[in-house]
Amino acid sequence: MTVSEVKPGIYWIGVNDRTTDLFEGLWPITSEGVSYNAYLVKDEKSALIDLAKDFKTTALLDQIAEILDPAALDYIVINHMEPDHTGVIRALRLIAPDATLLCTKRAEEMLASYYGITEGVRVVSEGDTLDLGTHQLKFVMTPMVHWPETMMTYEVSEQVLFSCDAFGGYGALQGAIFDDQYTDLAYYEREALRYYANIVALFSRPVIRAIDKLKDVPVTVIAPSHGLVWRHNPQRIVDLYREWANYALEGPELGVTMLYGTMYGNTEEVAEAVASGVARAAVPVDIFDVRHIHASYILPSLYARSGVLVGAPTYEGELFPPMAHVLDLAARKRIRDRKVGYFGSFGWSGGARKEIADWAEKLHWDMIENWEFPGGPDRAKLTEAEELGYRFAMALKDKSSAR
Ligand SMILES: Cc1cc2nc3c(=O)[nH]c(=O)nc-3n(C[C@H](O)[C@H](O)[C@H](O)COP(=O)(O)O)c2cc1C
Ligand SMILES: [Fe+2]
Ligand SMILES: [Fe+2]
Repeated sequence: MTVSEVKPGIYWIGVNDRTTDLFEGLWPITSEGVSYNAYLVKDEKSALIDLAKDFKTTALLDQIAEILDPAALDYIVINHMEPDHTGVIRALRLIAPDATLLCTKRAEEMLASYYGITEGVRVVSEGDTLDLGTHQLKFVMTPMVHWPETMMTYEVSEQVLFSCDAFGGYGALQGAIFDDQYTDLAYYEREALRYYANIVALFSRPVIRAIDKLKDVPVTVIAPSHGLVWRHNPQRIVDLYREWANYALEGPELGVTMLYGTMYGNTEEVAEAVASGVARAAVPVDIFDVRHIHASYILPSLYARSGVLVGAPTYEGELFPPMAHVLDLAARKRIRDRKVGYFGSFGWSGGARKEIADWAEKLHWDMIENWEFPGGPDRAKLTEAEELGYRFAMALKDKSSAR
């Protein structure tokens, strides 16, 4: 993509990745892609801020060369060591051996362990500055957003915040980089929430700490390292991130995530009836068939909503495995303190019902419905299912379970 001037002397020189199927080897981005936004400040001295994944080395070097000779770079700022932002460093070091790397103390150790780089590194701390001429960079420590070594970089004269993973999202850029150049902002906001729920949510407390720390700093542009660059309304993505972080700290919104899986359709039929009951109570419900929908797309709903309905049959004495997988990820992401209801079909002994109770305990979820039924649904069971959904939704409306 064409390089783009963010502010006088400050350039976006990022690259799109439409090749990687799984971000972090885990989260699907086959259809959405992702961008690695790198930035270049060109002044009396030049500074590159963040890089890209290693297989994008040639593309990133070409982008730098649009503005200046990569060999002439003076500084390379490493906000975050994750290889999606540092993979290019090994090649860049060969090309620009005299460029000084700036990073945190923790990142210095990681530069050695990941890349064997021990020379030409300058450690920066909170509030340290780097003069480039008319531009000045200031470093803001933001540990655990996303790793312990992470920091942000603030350009003082133009008030641009290079926030790295914070305020980022999935979705390759589509020919333009700024928020005001897109008509379908909702797409990027949705992908930012999926990214948040997949990657950042566990670190919601550090996110709030970082936002609070920056609240008196004037910012004209939020320039993250994934997704849109926010110059028209930089506050928008900060507000969204604060709202999402608060799901973890203050509790989710009223709503239901219904997860179901089925082998032969019995549980599915019942799931439809349960959903009718939820709808009758006028509570919003997102429905996911866990056989087909990757957990990456489910986590945003689980993360944002106060109730979980789990419909799954018994499989070999236990819970239908694809359901266990989603619950396991919820546990790893510490999506806790939800209300949960279970329903599911069994053939002879059952077993899923017991396992879901174990999951609820592990997740700190309050199990308020737990219904295992034999075989297929008849009219009476479907009526019971709808009542279950209605009761569950009404219980959620009780003020204590949602913000
Ligand atoms: C591979 C397989 C393993 C099963 N294991 C059990 C089991 O251990 N105990 C049990 O009660 N039912 C078991 N069943 C029966 C299913 O729970 C039952 O057929 C149920 O109605 C399936 O619901 P579904 O139509 O929603 O898939 C098993 C079924 C299959 C296909
Ligand atoms: Fe990261
Ligand atoms: Fe990243």
